[in-house]
Amino acid sequence: MGKHILVLNGPNLNLLGIREPGIYGNDTLETLCETVKKEAEIYGATVDCLQSNHEGALIDALHAAMGVYDGVIFNAGAYTHYSYALRDAIAAIRLPVVEVHLSDIHAREPFRHVSVIEPVCVAQISGLGVGSYLKALALLCEEEV
Ligand code: DQA
Repeated sequence: MGKHILVLNGPNLNLLGIREPGIYGNDTLETLCETVKKEAEIYGATVDCLQSNHEGALIDALHAAMGVYDGVIFNAGAYTHYSYALRDAIAAIRLPVVEVHLSDIHAREPFRHVSVIEPVCVAQISGLGVGSYLKALALLCEEEV
């Protein structure tokens, strides 16, 4: 049976397409989600997309993913760099979570080089635009994670 995957996007990612297109590209969040959903068909997987600008709502979404999804593709936005609460939520749920970023966080400002969620995620994929999400999908669908 195909896997059921949650794509979770954090703060400011609702503004994709408008927000700093030189860094994040011209695609909207809706387009990004459609692209991931289409790619999921290859694996016989199904994908739901959720976005919130609120840390607590992201924690609630991670908790609620337990028992519903087989894995999570998570772009935590700027929370990546300092949210121990999100890190604890990822560690608490018994689900593989892949950390993704559109931009290459290691090639930007020093504060973006640190990810406090990386140690509790199964992988970090950064700098491939929507390709980061597609690579994360392949990882969750093709490998025993
Ligand atoms: C981001 C990188 C973060 O540093 C930034 O705060 C974001 C987006 C990315 O997808 O490249 O909001 O996670």
